[in-house]
Amino acid sequence: QSTSPMIVVANRLPFVVAKDPKTGNYIRKQSAGGLVTAVAPVVVETEGMWVGWSGLHIEDDTFAIPESSPDDNSPTAGLKSEQVIPVNLPRKLFDDYYNGCCNACFWPLFHSMPDRAIFEEDKWDAYREVNEEFAKLVIQAVHKSYKKTPDRIPLVWIHDYHLMYAANYIRDTCNDEGLEVKMAFFLHIPFPSWDIIRLFPWADELLQGILGCDSVGFHLEDYCLNFIDCCHRKLGCRIDRQRMLIEHNKRTVSVHTLPISIPYERFVKMAEEAPVVMKASPEQLLLAVDRLDYTKGLVHRFKAFERLLEKYPEHVEKVNLFQVAVPSRTDVKEYQELKEEIDKLIGQINGRFSTPNWSPIRYIYGCITQAQLAAFYRDASVALVTPLRDGMNLVAKEFVACQTREPGVLVLSPFAGAGVTMQEALMVNPYEINHFADVMHRALTMPKDERELRMKQLRRREKERDVNFWLRNVLKSADCLGDESGESK
Ligand code: UDP
Ligand code: G6P
Repeated sequence: QSTSPMIVVANRLPFVVAKDPKTGNYIRKQSAGGLVTAVAPVVVETEGMWVGWSGLHIEDDTFAIPESSPDDNSPTAGLKSEQVIPVNLPRKLFDDYYNGCCNACFWPLFHSMPDRAIFEEDKWDAYREVNEEFAKLVIQAVHKSYKKTPDRIPLVWIHDYHLMYAANYIRDTCNDEGLEVKMAFFLHIPFPSWDIIRLFPWADELLQGILGCDSVGFHLEDYCLNFIDCCHRKLGCRIDRQRMLIEHNKRTVSVHTLPISIPYERFVKMAEEAPVVMKASPEQLLLAVDRLDYTKGLVHRFKAFERLLEKYPEHVEKVNLFQVAVPSRTDVKEYQELKEEIDKLIGQINGRFSTPNWSPIRYIYGCITQAQLAAFYRDASVALVTPLRDGMNLVAKEFVACQTREPGVLVLSPFAGAGVTMQEALMVNPYEINHFADVMHRALTMPKDERELRMKQLRRREKERDVNFWLRNVLKSADCLGDESGESK
């Protein structure tokens, strides 16, 4: 498909390297999150390279990237160790960059929650330093790529808010060393409006960092327009909103709407093969799957569920809300506090409504495999994808792909990127608790023909616009699709 060898650079490798407590050997553990789900199959398929953090630091033992185990059926199983370039940095520096800048500043800011964002100059310094360290390893990867395929110009594909500052270092070094590369950036989270971006004290440098690439991609047109607007107002760049072009330092950067998607057929197959995971019962299952993150709206969802049980008592003993909450960024205070709040809230609701044979909320605080998730997606009556803000949200798409039997209902927030394209879902504003309860009731009582109709449309779109469709469009936008003779442009 691609004739440009691909070098992905992202904060995380698609797996973390961890010590097996039983054997003491280093093993791979699958990383959760939308970025890995979408990008890992692409790198495997194109035999690309991946530069990223292994989960360990320079102070830890030295180790070689382990090969995947024979029973590994995760999306990264096909990724050979020679395709992986691990980033190992001092613990303190990495912590200032990852927790201090990425998680405590950029994550809330870009999700339009500036009150939660902490702006500290030393964290921003660490961010720039770490971006440069990633960039140095990308240069090594470029050399490796030219050694393997001397006549192919590689595509350096930079991912997400962790690495918005790396592009210019890569570009300048490649220029100095006479290495030709194509460079693309993709943001997996929202790009907020100028009003929010201007709060970041070093916004000029940040925008210039992104503009170091030739093409820049976002999930939604709104995010693209926000970015273009910021470049215009903050840097004074000449822009063409119609053609989505930005002029900067005598170069033209193109901006593209590229809504990310999932390996659809892989999820269908997993759903078809998965055993039944919950015992047969008259109960209807409301399913929610998120990293434990304040952007995902878990508190609002539990409160709305409580309202459902108050307002529509016919659901007592008949429904279960099953929440999978993946531990995430547990070193950051906001995430620790959220965990405490949620534990308390679930305790209160279960304490209030449970009967001797039933409790309303089941809750896993942990990560389960996608094969296991597929069974829950298939058997759920309703999926609640109700973030307060989310770049796209792949769980919504995975649920739809796995609906291979009795059709269920997707309840979706318009504040997720998925809410813009998956219009046949039942939409709900998660802040409106009372209405949210009504929408849950409607989903639980929806007639079969309406469920079928909505789900059919949703499935058709996700099947057509799967992750391969996304990849083709990314390559097209970066000018990296080979022509019929197999030559890249
Ligand atoms: N996921 C997983 N195991 C879990 C929960 C989630 O593998 O226990 C995966 C899920 O299949 C999805 C991803 O994590 O592909 C979450 O992506 P999403 O875009 O919904 O949210 P993000 O975590 O990227 O904000
Ligand atoms: C989101 C981000 C990813 C990130 C993932 C998991 O999907 O866009 O870049 O990898 O969350 O978060 P973590 O901090 O654990 O990598």
